[in-house]
Amino acid sequence: MLVKAFTPFPLLRTERLTLRQLMQTDVNAIFALRSDSEINKYLERQPSRTLEDAENFINMITVKITKNESVYWAIVLNDNETFLGTVCLFNFSEKQEKCEIGYELLGNFQGKGFMNEAADKVINYAFQTIKIQTIEAYSHKNNQRSVNLLIKLGFKELPEYDKTNPDFITYSLTKK
Ligand SMILES: CC(C)(COP(=O)(O)OP(=O)(O)OC[C@H]1O[C@@H](n2cnc3c(N)ncnc32)[C@H](O)[C@@H]1OP(=O)(O)O)[C@@H](O)C(=O)NCCC(=O)NCCS
Repeated sequence: MLVKAFTPFPLLRTERLTLRQLMQTDVNAIFALRSDSEINKYLERQPSRTLEDAENFINMITVKITKNESVYWAIVLNDNETFLGTVCLFNFSEKQEKCEIGYELLGNFQGKGFMNEAADKVINYAFQTIKIQTIEAYSHKNNQRSVNLLIKLGFKELPEYDKTNPDFITYSLTKK
């Protein structure tokens, strides 16, 4: 059985980063992430068009965390709390003991190994604390930075693909 208990919120720390709960005051950073056409390029989502969209998104995430439906971290620098991006675990399947991982970084903070550091910590939390057996990720085949990250983290490409979305590859990581 999965151990999904996100209240109190699971604060995580790495050498350079703190992974903390999203707050209402993150609205500008969430808007920056979700309205950026480069960040959204390979993501199938409705972009944020207004600050209100970003606010609604934060509220929606907060409710999901309260219900233990998903867990979503803001990634900030240990040194000065600068907001870098987000990482989340969602689509939990109790039966298959699996979930999905999602992640995004503001452009200025890509290419510095920050997501590798954050995702590694989150994967460890999923396996050790939630008792997940398999983590999946869906990446557009041309999303090279995302594919590189998944491979570095040890994910393997699955042979099956979604016929309705043939450009997306499923990657999977199983607990050792
Ligand atoms: C996917 C995404 C998070 C990857 O970001 P990233 O910064 O490339 O990922 P990493 O944290 O693994 O960093 C790796 C890069 O940092 C470099 N790096 C610098 N310092 C480093 C360090 N201390 N440790 C590790 N890598 C370091 C690596 O060389 C590598 O750069 P390169 O790709 O130019 O060789 C980012 O591209 C993104 O937010 N994309 C938009 C959202 C998105 O598509 N999400 C995926 C949905 S499936």
